[in-house]
Amino acid sequence: MAQQFEDKFHRKFYYLRLSVTDVCNFKCTYCLPEGYKPVDGEKSSFLSLPEIKRVVKAFADCGTSKVRITGGEPSLRRDFNDIIHAVASTSGIDKVATTTNGYRMAKQVGQWREAGLTHINVSVDSLSPRMFHQITGENKFEQVMAGIDKAFEVGYEQVKVNAVLMNSFNLREVPAFLNWIKDRPIQLRFIELMQTGEMDHFFQKNHVSGATIRTQLLNEGWVPKVRQANDGPAQVFVHPDYKGEIGLIMPYEKGFCETCNRLRISAKGKLHLCLFGEQGVELRDLLQEDEQEADLIARIQTQLESKSVSHHLQDGNSGATPHLASIGG
Ligand code: 5AD
Ligand code: SF4
Repeated sequence: MAQQFEDKFHRKFYYLRLSVTDVCNFKCTYCLPEGYKPVDGEKSSFLSLPEIKRVVKAFADCGTSKVRITGGEPSLRRDFNDIIHAVASTSGIDKVATTTNGYRMAKQVGQWREAGLTHINVSVDSLSPRMFHQITGENKFEQVMAGIDKAFEVGYEQVKVNAVLMNSFNLREVPAFLNWIKDRPIQLRFIELMQTGEMDHFFQKNHVSGATIRTQLLNEGWVPKVRQANDGPAQVFVHPDYKGEIGLIMPYEKGFCETCNRLRISAKGKLHLCLFGEQGVELRDLLQEDEQEADLIARIQTQLESKSVSHHLQDGNSGATPHLASIGG
């Protein structure tokens, strides 16, 4: 194995978030309220299967064991099954996850599992079909729910569900959400709304602090789960009366970045050291031949030396990220 990816704060990066498309067919209020629009004049396409294989192999050779395939909506790629298979068959990768809006899940999740997908996160911002429509711009609540049922049917033991709580939309649904996971092995993750470049008043109006939710959970008998070494940034809570778990993702909390263990590749092949970082560093010229792997690794390693200790979200600085569909969340 080449030297493991590590930064100057001794954070090791065993987790790669790989975006395979910017395209999305939903219009989530906090992400793409007007829907996906191709960037003017940009002709270049998203990473090809051979490019994906090379980048994943390089990461695996430097200690990465988990890859999350993201977007946009990753399942809109016609070769999504092949992508899953390519990632899953890379030596060293033992977890292959995706984050999906659930649109194609009811139809395809069986194929995804066969191709080697080990973990699924699906976004469900409301349990009311009308509110779901209002938040996502799509009247697809039933379809997404059918997708979750199907995931259990084809053999997934747990499904993670993401919900972004917002003051003027779904905040009052917290009790309904908790009730929903009483008998279901779902890890429901409340993700604190993050401010991105294209948001203005929306954030001020809708941001709900994760700490408020945490207090509420603790008052209702939920207890923090002991953290494992390679856990993500979610604080997980369990309750004796519930089959499901709650995860709180609070990017504005002090220390959130200390456990950072991930790097990101955008759908057009740029390396991003942080969700709220810089413009990204071009890697694509080094994804054209298998023989370029050593140069590719060297470029990534050089970049890692400049990864900063934390994002600057607290100061209202969301870096160069216009919305999360552009970098895969
Ligand atoms: N703040 C918080 N979460 C976001 N997501 C997308 N944009 C934002 C934002 N501005 C989340 C969605 C989805 C995942 C892909 O990213 O909820 O679950
Ligand atoms: Fe699409 Fe996900 Fe953005 Fe919603 S949050 S618009 S599903 S990329």
